[in-house]
Amino acid sequence: MKRTFTAETPLQKGNKVNIAGWVQTRRDHGKIVFIDVRDMKGVVQVVCTNELAKELRPEWVVEIEGTVKERPDAMKNPAIETGGIEIAAEKITVFSKAKTLPFAIDTDGYEIGEEHRLKYRYLDLRRPRLKRNLILRNRVTQLIREFMLEEEFVEIETPILTKSTPEGARDFVVPSRMYPGTFYALPQSPQQYKQLLQIAGFERYFQIARCFRDEDPRADRQPEFTQLDLEMSFVEQEDILDLTERLYVSLVKTVFPEKKIQQVPFPRIPYKEAMKKWKSDKPDIRKNKNDPNELAFAFIVDFPMFEWKEKEKRWDAVHHPFTKIRNPRPTSPGQSPGGRAKSEIRKENAKDLLAQQYDLVLNGFEIGGGSIRETDPEILETVFEIMGHTKEETREKFGHLLEAFEYGVPPHGGNAPGIDRFIAVVLNEPSIREVIAFPKTGDSRDLMMNSPSEIAPTQLKELHLRNDAKP
Ligand code: AMO
Repeated sequence: MKRTFTAETPLQKGNKVNIAGWVQTRRDHGKIVFIDVRDMKGVVQVVCTNELAKELRPEWVVEIEGTVKERPDAMKNPAIETGGIEIAAEKITVFSKAKTLPFAIDTDGYEIGEEHRLKYRYLDLRRPRLKRNLILRNRVTQLIREFMLEEEFVEIETPILTKSTPEGARDFVVPSRMYPGTFYALPQSPQQYKQLLQIAGFERYFQIARCFRDEDPRADRQPEFTQLDLEMSFVEQEDILDLTERLYVSLVKTVFPEKKIQQVPFPRIPYKEAMKKWKSDKPDIRKNKNDPNELAFAFIVDFPMFEWKEKEKRWDAVHHPFTKIRNPRPTSPGQSPGGRAKSEIRKENAKDLLAQQYDLVLNGFEIGGGSIRETDPEILETVFEIMGHTKEETREKFGHLLEAFEYGVPPHGGNAPGIDRFIAVVLNEPSIREVIAFPKTGDSRDLMMNSPSEIAPTQLKELHLRNDAKP
């Protein structure tokens, strides 16, 4: 007999159905037993004889055949979707039994230690809150795809086994078996590939991209996370801000209609003003911070191009070296800044140079960042020089990109909103771990898979590696 999801059983009043799922609760009432059966779409109450229910226990996986009956009025529960009916069980098949779970799954779970929750993440995910989070996340990525395709973007996958990227974090590396002593790096973002795709003529690229950065996790930071990575040709800063803004307005309206966006168009706040007024480059500009449904988006613009790294005694790019330097004149809101004259891009001016870089902030979190790119190899060499790289070093690290810029490069720019952070902020979750199916712990471990872990001596040998460390 064909299986019916619990949520659809109210449509089958009087009919025989076959449901399958987990026993959520069991309540004994003398000769009869009530069990709640949970599946992917919801829960339904099943009435069984003592004989049929026998030793059924919570979290056992069962299949139940029975007839859908309207509940007596007094027994109806309008709070749940299937609360008007129940299923009178006729046959129960047990697919598998379950041990007592290590923790409760009918609470929101915040009270349980993270190590415990992540070790048994597959049980933690049975929790309604986490299920809801992942389903909403899925709706967000689905809508992003629809929106981007509608805007004529092409979704293109880029390599995971690649080379160091200039996002400024530490790389995760993968040893090469075929070229002893050499390593791939996992991408900190698809930055260089998306720029190369512009040179290839894909004028509108996007990808729901996994990024890897070897940095200490925090509530809003994971070693691997997901970006909506996008890049466009023949555009200026305002075109990208406008597209980003339309996307977020549409996401909120469709997936989170209970939320209120404080201001559209999103305010464009110069970095200097943000630092002066809020002492932060990701200010929380909500007028009413007590309202859980208030969303205050803003673009922070006009970042400095360089910052002084006291420890290393050198200038570094605030965003990344491929960011275009902007002219120093103020522009009115909604107008894109132009580039700065080549002759003005000098080390002595480094502290005054502003970038055509923008961050998207939401309620005090940086949920995206991007820039218009510099494509003039001469200016790029100067930028690298200001950062303390010799011409040779620059050629070795980024020569492939600089060379590509010599074969006809369109003006281009992009953005990369972090998907995990947006969903966590919108759902008022305290950490992005609450919106990722299998996150790492606060100290970068996967306790469920027990990773990172040692590898076999034969694997090490094949990779020409020697393990000096004692974990
Ligand atoms: P950036 O490094 O600013 O830009 O990253 C863009 C956005 O990605 C999110 N993010 C993270 N989310 C979770 N965990 C992390 N460790 C983490 N690191 C970053 C943030 C951030 O705003 N290639 C450029 C974009 C571009 O220039 O187009 C880039 O990656 O929400």
